[in-house]
Amino acid sequence: MTAIRPLVAGNWKMHGLAANLAELKSLQDLLAMEPQPAADVMICPPATLLAQARYFLSKSDILLGAQDCHPDSQGPHTGDISAEMLADAGAKAVIVGHSERRTDYGETDAVVSQKAGAAHRAGLAAIICIGERGRERQDGATLDIVKRQLDGSLPPAATAANTIIAYEPVWAIGTGWTPTPEDVAAVHAFIRGRLGDELGGEGSAMRILYGGSVKPSNARELLTVPNVNGALVGGASLKATDFYAILSAYSGTGGRGR
Ligand code: 13P
Repeated sequence: MTAIRPLVAGNWKMHGLAANLAELKSLQDLLAMEPQPAADVMICPPATLLAQARYFLSKSDILLGAQDCHPDSQGPHTGDISAEMLADAGAKAVIVGHSERRTDYGETDAVVSQKAGAAHRAGLAAIICIGERGRERQDGATLDIVKRQLDGSLPPAATAANTIIAYEPVWAIGTGWTPTPEDVAAVHAFIRGRLGDELGGEGSAMRILYGGSVKPSNARELLTVPNVNGALVGGASLKATDFYAILSAYSGTGGRGR
């Protein structure tokens, strides 16, 4: 079986003004240096910066992603943005079901599945986020939660090309805490098994990212765990030098995590 090419995606969340696009230029310059990481690279800026970011990245392999979309393609939904609009602005992917949206807006698995389906309709890859809360981990419910969210959030017709899973333990997001590599391995192996059961070969080839306090100092340890096919990075993606240092975990390894 061919190895899965990793993806390291930066989620800027609600950070970034036009001036911060200089970080994209810096990242592009860093990525031009040898050795180049054996991974795909994506930045998900706020929607306001997508069109400008596309211009900045026109001569670059760095992919653009968005952070959320509405299930519908258009309509009376003030303030919302459709997947088609994101594609039109230059996005190749969109994050759906991030725990911050599940918490802030009460997004259910059913809504997340609809949003992922909307991404596919618009020709975007859906990055579907799942992960347990701290209390749920303490209660030993991690795999139950992950199973429920995965089963409920995966849209029909998910393939390895159009869908990426991001396992983000909620308690690890923005806290500096991370699960142990053994804990990450257990959850990713579980997700891999479910994906294989549900989607066969497509599930075996689907990328499963780890997210939650990934930083230069822990990237290599976390990204070399079996079945970790990259990272979804929040805070450390805002500075090109930090993000590049995380990507360096894939320099010269030929792409690990399988
Ligand atoms: P941090 O890397 O800041 O913990 O955020 C992770 C995350 O939520 C990425 O989507």
